Amino acid sequence: VWEDFKMYSHLRSILLIIIAQSAQGSGEPVCRSLGNFELSGLLQEGDIIIGGLFPMHYRVVVPDLGYMHKPRASGCYGFDFRSFRWAQVMRYAIKEINEDPSFLSNITLGYKIYDSCATHVAALRATFTILGNPEDTLSNITCTGTHSVLAFIGDSGSSQSIVVAKVLGPFSIPMISYFSTCACLGDKQEFPTFFRTIPSDMFQIKAIAQLVKHFGWTWIAAVSEDDDYGRYGIQALTEEVEKNGICVAYYEIIPKVYNRQRILEIVKKIKNSSAKIVVAFSGEGELYPLLEEVVHQNITGIQWIASEAWITAALFSPPKYYRFLGGTIGFAVRRGDIPGLKNFLLTVHPSSFPNNSLVKEFWETMFDCTLGTSHSIEQSIKCTGEKTLEGKNNLYTDITQLRISYNVYKGVYAIAHSLKNLINCKQNKGPFINKTCADITQLEPWQLQHYVQEVSFVNSMREEVNFDENGDPIASYDIINWQRSKDGSIQFVPVGRFDEAEGVGHELLIDEDAIIWNGEQTKVPESVCSESCAPGTRKGIREGEPVCCFDCLPCADGEISNQTDSVECIKCPEDYWSNQQRFQCIPKEIEYLSFKEPMGIVLTLVALFGVCLTTTVILVFFYYRSTPIVRANNSELSFLILLSLILCFLCSIIFIGQPTTWNCILRYTVFGISFSLCISCILCKTVVVLMAFKVTVPGSSIIKLFGPVQQRAVISACGLIQVIICIVWLTMAPPYAFKNTQYQSGKIILECGVESALAFWSVLGYIGLLACICFLLAFFVRKLPDNFNEAKYITFSMLIFSAVWIAFIPAYVSSPGKYTVAVQIFAILSSSFSLLTCIFFPKCYIILLKSENNSKQFLMGRK
Ligand code: TRP
Repeated sequence: VWEDFKMYSHLRSILLIIIAQSAQGSGEPVCRSLGNFELSGLLQEGDIIIGGLFPMHYRVVVPDLGYMHKPRASGCYGFDFRSFRWAQVMRYAIKEINEDPSFLSNITLGYKIYDSCATHVAALRATFTILGNPEDTLSNITCTGTHSVLAFIGDSGSSQSIVVAKVLGPFSIPMISYFSTCACLGDKQEFPTFFRTIPSDMFQIKAIAQLVKHFGWTWIAAVSEDDDYGRYGIQALTEEVEKNGICVAYYEIIPKVYNRQRILEIVKKIKNSSAKIVVAFSGEGELYPLLEEVVHQNITGIQWIASEAWITAALFSPPKYYRFLGGTIGFAVRRGDIPGLKNFLLTVHPSSFPNNSLVKEFWETMFDCTLGTSHSIEQSIKCTGEKTLEGKNNLYTDITQLRISYNVYKGVYAIAHSLKNLINCKQNKGPFINKTCADITQLEPWQLQHYVQEVSFVNSMREEVNFDENGDPIASYDIINWQRSKDGSIQFVPVGRFDEAEGVGHELLIDEDAIIWNGEQTKVPESVCSESCAPGTRKGIREGEPVCCFDCLPCADGEISNQTDSVECIKCPEDYWSNQQRFQCIPKEIEYLSFKEPMGIVLTLVALFGVCLTTTVILVFFYYRSTPIVRANNSELSFLILLSLILCFLCSIIFIGQPTTWNCILRYTVFGISFSLCISCILCKTVVVLMAFKVTVPGSSIIKLFGPVQQRAVISACGLIQVIICIVWLTMAPPYAFKNTQYQSGKIILECGVESALAFWSVLGYIGLLACICFLLAFFVRKLPDNFNEAKYITFSMLIFSAVWIAFIPAYVSSPGKYTVAVQIFAILSSSFSLLTCIFFPKCYIILLKSENNSKQFLMGRK
């Protein structure tokens, strides 16, 4: 700022030196200015002059840098009726103020309006012309007394305003812009004298970001013109939308000087990108070449979001644009009415501005004719005197969309009201040092600056006009949608508004049903780089691409995501597991062999069948207890075996059902005891057979050696050992029911935990030992000659028994789960059945079907 200040102070002294030097020249004009560019402007004298800068041409001719001759006065081309209208609005406002005697009683306002050609070179030239053109004889107090120009209205484009504001700033000359929206101009340090009647882009950017968010677009593109307005706008917009997780697919800058190559590149980008929403921060003139090319290449399906600079652009309203630009949406500054303006506009006539090239050009362009000494050579038709503006329908006379014009109007009134306040200042109550007031005849621009900053009034539209500390008004926009009018051209339909005054979060108000989108759609267009991720999946970043482009990855087992677009999957709590689609944690499946499932039912039935079968055998044996075969087989032992078999069958049922502490304790103990009981009985039986045939101690019968007493003792002893093992086991570390969540992640397996493997294997091993002894003994006596070969059957049964239990070991050691339990039960049942069938069925067969064999003779092997 200090650098700038130094520079402009320097500039000012140079300017004054030039003025002073030229003043010394003989008799000739008293002052000579730096800028004698023969610019033609709209001028009117008055006590206080207001400068006006309007881009009355679209472009400036690229200057000849040779300096072989004096630079041309106006290097501008492309007459802009809209801007010419703005200039007329300024004139109109000043006229209105001057005609109201109660407003600024003794003082008349004058103006100096020049063309800024939408270029900062021209704007600067115009500024200097306004500031110090002493040749004009408009004011007799020029060069002395008050400054000639105390305030400026303008400029239009932000870049031009920046240049002008930097020039005016050090001189403390207030300027009020009607169209410069760049947020950068809100910096009071840099632009202390800048004010505007148009809201800062800070708000427009917020509004666009909210709009984009509102419609769920996350993948947008941006183009801008190549100046402060465009670059600042898009940069701020990108920052703002990225805060909301929206990505900008690409950002292209339209060159200031037409460059077909660049335009083609940009159009290609637009065509090939998946981003169908394109935000354009640009003036209509700058955007024109691009949109022309879009139309030329027949690119449809792009939903344009317009910035305030082109949302009401008449340039694009002809029907041929509708297919491409229809549906465009954007924010326009509020419109207002200026009563009496239309008539004023119609009064403009070359005859009231003799030798004024601007008005001449206006007239010639309007009626496509030439007014004598025109520099436009090609026009040959001479303008006739009868032509009037009445009935002419074009941008100039169209006063239906007074938005920027209205801003100009407000700006002029703001200056007038400031002057009024200044004049009405009461001595000793003034704002300046020692409570002084400004002297109207010696008025300094900084004094007016103070009043502009403070001004606040309600205008004829009942709108309050004032400037905040940044020199900005309260932001308020209309949301405009481009729809087809009856004649096929584009009309600007308001579909909502954005009002800063409504408070944060409530600013945006959209009538969605009224919007017609590009391609005559009523459905909101979509623009996303990647479709959103459904619950059950999460976003997976694609390396090197914006965050809006992602892959949807399914959550892992046991993890879920229950929202769309989740960034991460959440782990399910313990005992819970993800469902198939991974959007919900469901309780883990509990697995155990239950009575309710087919396998449980079948096994139970088989066990019960075994019990019944054994009971039947008991009954048969009991019924035929007096027959030789039963008696010969030591009926007491037989019954004991059968009873323990019933126990074996029953114990298999304990294995079915949900494991509980008691159930787990019972499982192994009942199993161990009943089996060891059973095997020890069989062992006894084998011993008896062995004794009967092998022991040949003279004079002793086997009854004496191994009689019932010994037998009972052996059985009890064998059983007791197992009981002791079990008791030790239960007291040391009893088996317990536990939830196995480790083994299978999606399931809770309820099982009986065996803490002491030693005890467990002792129980099993003991049974195995008994079975082995039994087998060996039985094997030993299997060939003994008796017709009813008990030993053979026992050998056989033990063989099966062992086979089953050896097969059973892997099942024990292997994975937990209900099938393992089923295998265990199967082993128990099949071994029980093998014992039952091998030992008892042959006897039952003889008893029931071959009763003739049920005799002592047969048993003794003698027929
Ligand atoms: N609001 C815009 C700005 O601040 C208006 C604008 C854009 C403009 N491009 C323009 C005005 C070209 C005049 C000429 O710059």
